[in-house]
Amino acid sequence: MRFSKALTALAFAAVALASDVLDLTPDSFDELVNPEPLMLVEFFAPWCGHCKALAPHYEEAATVLKEKGIKLAKVNCVDEADLCQKNGVQGYPTLRVYRNGEHVQYAGPRTSEGIVSYMTKQSLPAVGSIDKTTFDEFKVADKIVALAFVDSASDALAAEFNATANKHRDDYLFGITTDKEVFEAAGVKPPAVILYRKFDEAVTEYPYPISSLTSADLEGWIKDLAVPVLDQVNAENYQVYAQSGKPLAYLFLDPSDAKKDEYLELVKPVAAKYKGKVNFVWIDGIQFGDHAKSLNLPEAKWPSFVLQDLTKQLKYPYDQSKALDAEDIDALVEGYLEGKLEPSLKSQAVPEEQAESVFELVGKQFDEVVFDDSKDVFVEFYAPWCGHCKRLKATWDSLGDRYADVKDRLVIAKMDATENDLPPSVPFRIAGFPTLKFKKAGSKEFIDYDGDRTLESLVTFIEENASNSLEKRNETAPPPPESESEAQEPLGHHDEL
Ligand SMILES: *[C@@H]1O[C@H](CO)[C@@H](O)[C@H](O)[C@H]1NC(C)=O
Ligand SMILES: *[C@@H]1O[C@H](CO)[C@@H](O)[C@H](O)[C@H]1NC(C)=O
Ligand SMILES: *[C@@H]1O[C@H](CO)[C@@H](O)[C@H](O)[C@H]1NC(C)=O
Repeated sequence: MRFSKALTALAFAAVALASDVLDLTPDSFDELVNPEPLMLVEFFAPWCGHCKALAPHYEEAATVLKEKGIKLAKVNCVDEADLCQKNGVQGYPTLRVYRNGEHVQYAGPRTSEGIVSYMTKQSLPAVGSIDKTTFDEFKVADKIVALAFVDSASDALAAEFNATANKHRDDYLFGITTDKEVFEAAGVKPPAVILYRKFDEAVTEYPYPISSLTSADLEGWIKDLAVPVLDQVNAENYQVYAQSGKPLAYLFLDPSDAKKDEYLELVKPVAAKYKGKVNFVWIDGIQFGDHAKSLNLPEAKWPSFVLQDLTKQLKYPYDQSKALDAEDIDALVEGYLEGKLEPSLKSQAVPEEQAESVFELVGKQFDEVVFDDSKDVFVEFYAPWCGHCKRLKATWDSLGDRYADVKDRLVIAKMDATENDLPPSVPFRIAGFPTLKFKKAGSKEFIDYDGDRTLESLVTFIEENASNSLEKRNETAPPPPESESEAQEPLGHHDEL
């Protein structure tokens, strides 16, 4: 028994020694990663279960891919915490495909075969060489196809085009042609880039001076055109809009409405006019009624229209008592872009009395209470459905009780962030529940509370950070019922989108 264990240990040691996975450190990272035309890097933590499950597959894939000249590497984020932080690693494992130091997320499977196949495909040219025989088929081979027309494949334009193609090889289809017959068939004079799409305009030529085109210009241009003028949004494509960060204008419709297409035709010209500045979508109002409500469209009445500033989380609904009108929608969007429009702020009614020691904050009172410079303020932003918030309640109540005597100097508050919007004057947005924010008396800044959610830690935090004197506090408050984890629930928990 002991003998075989020793043997196993030896065998493991041998495997570890023979590993084809490179270990990266702060000293070697740039030196080893930057020169590689293609490399897969795993950022991992030794305690992470998914990382452990991946490890043997990763080793095996590294051995197979070594033959093809593709390297696999890893970074231990416990030993090299700074390196991982510098690289913006937020979860484990994080897998990235690097090309000469530039990376994209690895989007393949996590089995050895899957890794080998994905990385092998990544090593093939991202750009197909197109001639007369393949042109007709190629330009309709995908939803979005980019084709570069050049006199020579070694042109500067070809290099920029290839760089974009390498970066977006998983997103769009790319081709290059030097064939004069293709120029003729397409009616194009090189150098040129054309985007073929299966929606909106089928053929779009790059409209800016092509001689100075960089891969970044090309990337921006394709990304804009990849978003249809007025597509239906749903769980599958929502991320495309969220990631673009651009304001999102929603047309809520009842899909069974006989006039649905009429409404779409009404909004489409406005959507086309603001293309590139504001993304327009239509959405099923029946299925996503809760989403409409969260965007401050109180009535389940379709069609309805609302513009949302995704970065600031501000909402600009179209008056639901008015009929949908293209000119009014245009005016709303223009007013927003010019910064002339006030966002709609949802708020519960101001409570007639504050019955408990924790202050019940609503949107309408936010400025008055939180920006009262004579007080230290500690606010919990919660959602009624959030389990972590429910578990925090007893502790938060005890905290209120503890400082009930010094209410004039320290306000312990809570706000239902699903029923109350933050005013635009607030420099942060809520990204998960619960969110705990502390503001010192006299200060404009909000301090995040990220500590553990025990009464003891919350009290220590307050005592260390409050500007006002907190003497006369209530020491008789009972201890909290249980200790808490630091977990937070995502914002969209109950939103289908
Ligand atoms: C761009 O890619 C094409 C197709 O793979 C290749 O033939 C061409 O040499 C590349 N050009 C440059 C400048 O990298
Ligand atoms: C007080 O606030 C600072 C942030 O400004 C934080 O680093 C510190 O940990 C806080 N004190 C306690 C006891 O948590
Ligand atoms: C002190 O805390 C206890 C327990 O929560 C509470 O019953 C009592 O009313 C508080 N005292 C004051 C003066 O607020």
